[in-house]
Amino acid sequence: LETTPDTSADAGRDFTAIGVVGLGTMGAGIAEVFARHGFAVVGVELSEESVARGRQYLEHSTGRAVRRGKLTEEEQAELLGRVTLTTSLKDLADVDLVVEAAVESMATKQAIFRELDAIVGPDTVLATNTSSLSVTELSSATSRPGRVVGVHFFNPAPVQKLVEVVRTVVTEPAVLDDVQALLGRLGKSPVVCGDKAGFIANTLLFGYLNHAASMFEGRYASREDIDAAMRFGCGYPMGPLALLDLIGLDTAYEILETMYRQGRDRLHAPTPILKQMVTAGLLGRKTGRGFYTYE
Ligand code: CAA
Repeated sequence: LETTPDTSADAGRDFTAIGVVGLGTMGAGIAEVFARHGFAVVGVELSEESVARGRQYLEHSTGRAVRRGKLTEEEQAELLGRVTLTTSLKDLADVDLVVEAAVESMATKQAIFRELDAIVGPDTVLATNTSSLSVTELSSATSRPGRVVGVHFFNPAPVQKLVEVVRTVVTEPAVLDDVQALLGRLGKSPVVCGDKAGFIANTLLFGYLNHAASMFEGRYASREDIDAAMRFGCGYPMGPLALLDLIGLDTAYEILETMYRQGRDRLHAPTPILKQMVTAGLLGRKTGRGFYTYE
């Protein structure tokens, strides 16, 4: 655990305070990553209930690290002490970077970006954790499109090393360099890509996940056997159906829909069972039931 941000890297910009908007699975995980590395984090949610859920996630996740001997209780308390949770975007006035991790809705995200643009300082970088929406379109809601980037973390954010840094045609090269250096300080492995739905990893991953759901839907094999095939035959850490449950079926459906709408092939047309499960509230781990049932 670092107690102050490591600014020893050769990078230009010295980020110290980070804002995170949205404290769902991804936002809370991202807040944890920054706090673990010594950054002051201000997390914003819509309601006190959502703030409480975000706090619970942070306590649970860091508690697991304590139980596994990765953090001492004292370090956990320090880490949690670096995170301020609030319901007002105005509390982000002094941060150097905001990572927006709200719901996958262009209208919601644009409204947040517009509001943030008026609150934060002129040099503050506005980043979005969107999985599939256009970063360019989001940036157009601000007066600083050159200082807007995508920073797409993977679930679980504290564990997965990859972060896709999405550049638009107007993102300033210095901002890209600074953000990559910052992610390096978090122990992440950033990759850079252009602004197309799915970016690199989801474009490759979601056709496969969709196909697995369709195979299950057609009763070709059981969920356990589909997952076992990919784990034991191909060395994946989880099978595709368990992974869909981890990602959340609602999120997976939205990502596939967006990729399909952007004119990619039928590979990304969401297989009907996904929509049915979402409508029935079987969203995966977060609701206790998806392809599998969770305690
Ligand atoms: N939050 C925080 N930490 C977690 C965690 C969580 N939800 N789940 C597991 N961990 C940590 C554990 O504490 C443990 O940490 P230490 O090594 O420091 O002790 C480590 O991860 C390994 O955990 P486990 O031993 O319990 O379990 P595992 O070895 O089976 O790993 C896994 C679990 C990390 C989830 C692994 O199965 C995995 O990597 N699965 C694939 C996940 C994946 O593909 N994610 C990408 C999804 S796509 C996406 O996110 C993009 C999008 O836009 C939707």
